Amino acid sequence: MTILVTGGAGFIGGNFVLDWLARHDEKLVNLDALTYAGNLETLQTVARHPQHVFVRGDIGDRDGVAALLRQHRPRAVVNFAAESHVDRSIHGPADFIQTNIVGTFNLLECVREYWSGLDGEERAAFRFLHVSTDEVYGTLQAGDAPFAETHRYEPNSPYSASKAASDHLVRAWHHTYGLPVLTTNCSNNYGPYHFPEKLIPLVILNALAGKPLPIYGDGRQVRDWLYVKDHCGAIRRVLEAGVPGETYNVGGWNEKTNLEVVHAICAILDRTRPRADGLGYREQIQFVADRPGHDRRYAIDAGKLERELGWRPEETFDSGIAKTVEWYLANPEWIEHVSSGSYRDWLNKQYG
Ligand code: NAD
Ligand code: TYD
Repeated sequence: MTILVTGGAGFIGGNFVLDWLARHDEKLVNLDALTYAGNLETLQTVARHPQHVFVRGDIGDRDGVAALLRQHRPRAVVNFAAESHVDRSIHGPADFIQTNIVGTFNLLECVREYWSGLDGEERAAFRFLHVSTDEVYGTLQAGDAPFAETHRYEPNSPYSASKAASDHLVRAWHHTYGLPVLTTNCSNNYGPYHFPEKLIPLVILNALAGKPLPIYGDGRQVRDWLYVKDHCGAIRRVLEAGVPGETYNVGGWNEKTNLEVVHAICAILDRTRPRADGLGYREQIQFVADRPGHDRRYAIDAGKLERELGWRPEETFDSGIAKTVEWYLANPEWIEHVSSGSYRDWLNKQYG
């Protein structure tokens, strides 16, 4: 038995691959284009794992994906591959359209062709799991009920619009062609191997480097935060027991303002790595220009996943953020590697 994972050198995909190989004997083929966000160092401990096959390639490469499916004959495909950073999508949406929409379309077509050729039992058992985001639902006001699976799609950024489009394609490939798809819409993840363009790793690393901690606008935007290992557990559960054609919201029941998140990180660092001058890390907070079209609040109702498949997150925000800070303190080499070259170019573009 084999599964094919796309985007398995990125943040969530990388954590998924590591957890999968630690838990299963099943072969995992990992297709990743190694964009700026893909990092083979995340996969260093499984580079020679007998059940891990890494293939550098693009989900938009029709012949390449088709050949990979023919060669490895997976029982499931889990699609993490995407452009994932909202701020980058504002600066340059083209890559988001290409990978998230055209790439997903291409992957669906290759998978449909492969799945159509499977025989009865294999065909019935096959699954295509599409990993998506809560951002497709748009923004909430304070006091609104959290996003349920029935919430209308109202994406506001080029990133969320491209993910919404991909979700619609996945849905249509089920309704029209019968492809056995599953879609998960998850809230903001955090944890090990998170690329430091995103809020939490950026703040940890800037704090330690004595740099400003940039907060967009008033910092009172709300996100629901989920520890990445919990997201991986939810995906495994949906893959195992989800009903084809269904979507499942995944969240941590942890709504926090961005300021609360940054304060929590500062408090941990104040205890574990106090500043030499005796001042707190909060001193480094700097309010900067807001993100255009910045969604005010995301909140996820993950009740369906709990009721129907028995999944709940294991980490609280306090336990997850403590583990995350600890991981960044313990892994300077990984950070050093991602902090080079193109990453620095991005920081210059975004923050000057
Ligand atoms: P990431 O940017 O860290 O990783 C994306 C990975 O996909 C990288 O390894 C990259 O090299 C690869 N990739 C990009 N384009 C590709 C292509 N055309 N072909 C093959 N590989 C390609 O992203 P992430 O944070 O790990 O997110 C993974 C998935 O989860 C995305 O679909 C994202 O929309 C979704 N998601 C992310 C979050 C979050 O908080 N990070 C929350 C919910 C959902
Ligand atoms: P981010 O990690 O980019 O995730 P997303 O935009 O997908 O939710 O941002 C999380 C929140 O933090 C979001 O409201 C934007 C905010 N933010 C800042 O205030 N400063 C920053 O430097 C970054 C990267 C994000």
